[in-house]
Amino acid sequence: MFRNLPLAEIKHARLVPALVVSLFLTATASAEPTQIQRGEYLARAGDCVSCHTAKQGEPFSGGDRLNTPFGYMLAPNITSDPDTGIGRWSADDFYRSLHDGVNRRGQDMYPTMPYDFYTNVTRGDLRISQNAQAREERNRR
Ligand code: HEC
Repeated sequence: MFRNLPLAEIKHARLVPALVVSLFLTATASAEPTQIQRGEYLARAGDCVSCHTAKQGEPFSGGDRLNTPFGYMLAPNITSDPDTGIGRWSADDFYRSLHDGVNRRGQDMYPTMPYDFYTNVTRGDLRISQNAQAREERNRR
């Protein structure tokens, strides 16, 4: 295809794909902070930390006492710890808990976990906020 082109033009032709790739990489790199910021915004807007953190406890590590007319509940640990938190939860598990109010054991959660306020959050946004939370924990360590 390049047989009849002078050498200089062939060099440029080879540069084009490289240029396209590097433009794509630049665009991806600059999209990254936006997604991180979006995740942080979503976690803050959902105010998950207010219930899922005990007084003076680590953020999201649970233990906050929520009083109800029929007794009290302790908010669970939702850090990414695999044993005490939700580190083994898949994106589907996480989506189901916030969208349908059903935990990983298939149990309906009490509305003390206000999942009905989160049902309209899109799957993509939930994924972003799950990732943002895990990243925030890693940064704190
Ligand atoms: C008003 C307090 C409150 C807020 C706000 C809240 N939660 Fe909860 N959450 C709870 C309580 C209480 C439970 C336990 C409910 C149950 O087991 O019946 C719970 C359960 C959960 C569970 C299930 C954990 C498990 O081990 O079964 C997940 C996941 C969860 N919350 C995530 C979130 C996320 C993410 C947010 C923010 C978008 C959030 N919660 C906001 C109180 C809250």
